[in-house]
Amino acid sequence: MRIGVLTGGGDCPGLNAVIRAVTKSLIQHGHGKGVEVLGILDGFEGLMGDAPRARPLVWDRVSGILHMGGTILGTSNSANPLKDEATLEQVRRNVRALGLDVVVAIGGDGTMSLAHGLQQIGLACVGVPKTIDNDIALCERSFGFDTAVATATDALRRVESTANSHHRVMIVETMGRHAGWLALESGIAGAADVILLPEIDYDLQTIVRRCRERERRQRYTIICIGEGAKPRGGEITVRERVADSPDPVRLGGVGHVLRQQLQPHLKSEVRTTVLGYVQRGGDPTPFDRVLATRFGHHAAQLVIAGQLDRMVTLQDGRIGSVEIARVANTQRKVPPDHDLITMARDIGVCLGD
Ligand code: F6P
Repeated sequence: MRIGVLTGGGDCPGLNAVIRAVTKSLIQHGHGKGVEVLGILDGFEGLMGDAPRARPLVWDRVSGILHMGGTILGTSNSANPLKDEATLEQVRRNVRALGLDVVVAIGGDGTMSLAHGLQQIGLACVGVPKTIDNDIALCERSFGFDTAVATATDALRRVESTANSHHRVMIVETMGRHAGWLALESGIAGAADVILLPEIDYDLQTIVRRCRERERRQRYTIICIGEGAKPRGGEITVRERVADSPDPVRLGGVGHVLRQQLQPHLKSEVRTTVLGYVQRGGDPTPFDRVLATRFGHHAAQLVIAGQLDRMVTLQDGRIGSVEIARVANTQRKVPPDHDLITMARDIGVCLGD
C-alpha cells in the first residue's frame, strides 16, 4: 500500500507534528506489510506538473520535526487541481505514476474542498484540519490556532505598554479570514478594550464613545480587530486577489481603514499594527503539538481501517471523523450569541455594535 501525504493552503504551526505522527503510525503498523509513505511536495501542486514531485517519508526523515513550525513538505494556497479537465487528467496520471492508493491531505477548508473534488478521478483522501483561523466546520479546534492566539496575545500585551506610555489608541489587526475566533480569543487573553469581529459589523460612533470614555480615565485604548471585520453598511477590506486560486480573495488592512475613520474623532493619536504572518510562524505550543499528533495518528487509523473520504475532527474534546463532503465549501464562524461574546460583553468589552 502506498500513501501520499501533503500539506495544502497557508501553513501553520503543527503541520510537521501531523506529518510525523501519520508517517510513524503507518510505518509502525505496516512493518513487513509493504506499506510505504510518500511526501508530496508543495500541496496539490506536487501532483499537477508534467511529472509528480514527491519523496519517500521514512522514520528518520520525520524524526526531530515535532517542534518545528512550517512544513517540511512545502505548501501552496493557489494550486487548483480542479482548474480544468486537462489539469485533472494530469493529476490522474501523476497519481497513477506514484502508485498512490490514498492521500492524507492536511489543510483548511480549501484543501478539504479540493480533496472532495478529487474523488471524481477516483483519488481517495483522508483529511486533517489545520488552520490558525479555527474556521473548519464540524471541528471545534484546529491545530495552529492555539499557537496563533499565543502570538497575538503576546503582541497585544507588548502594544499595551507603549499605548500606556503615549496615551494612544492602538489598533492590532489579527488574521482569521471571515471568522473572528483568533481576534476574539486573543482579544480576551490580551485584555483588549474593544474587539471587532467579521461576524459583528461595527458602528464607528460606538467605538468613538468607548475611546473617549477611556481618554478621560485610563488614557489609552487597545482595539483588537479581525481582518474580516467591516463597518455597518461598509465593505470588507481586500488586500489582493490571486488569480486561479480556489479562494482568490486575500484580506488585510482593515486596521488601517479603522485608524483613518477614528482619528478625526479623537484627541489621542491612533496607531495600527497589522500582525500578519508572525501569527502563522514559529514553534507550535505544547497544546498544538499534542492535538496535531492526535490528528495525525487518527488519520493513519482511518487509512488502516479503509475509512476514506473522511476528515479527522475534534468534537466535545474527542477525536473522531466526518465525511469530507460535509466540510467542503463551508466555514465555521463565531455565533453572535457564543458564550465568549456574552462573557466579553458582561466584563465590559466593547464589541463595536
Ligand atoms: O487561512 C490562513 C490565513 O493565514 C488567513 O488568516 C489569512 O487571511 C490568509 O491565510 C493569508 O493568506 P496568504 O498566505 O495567501 O497571504
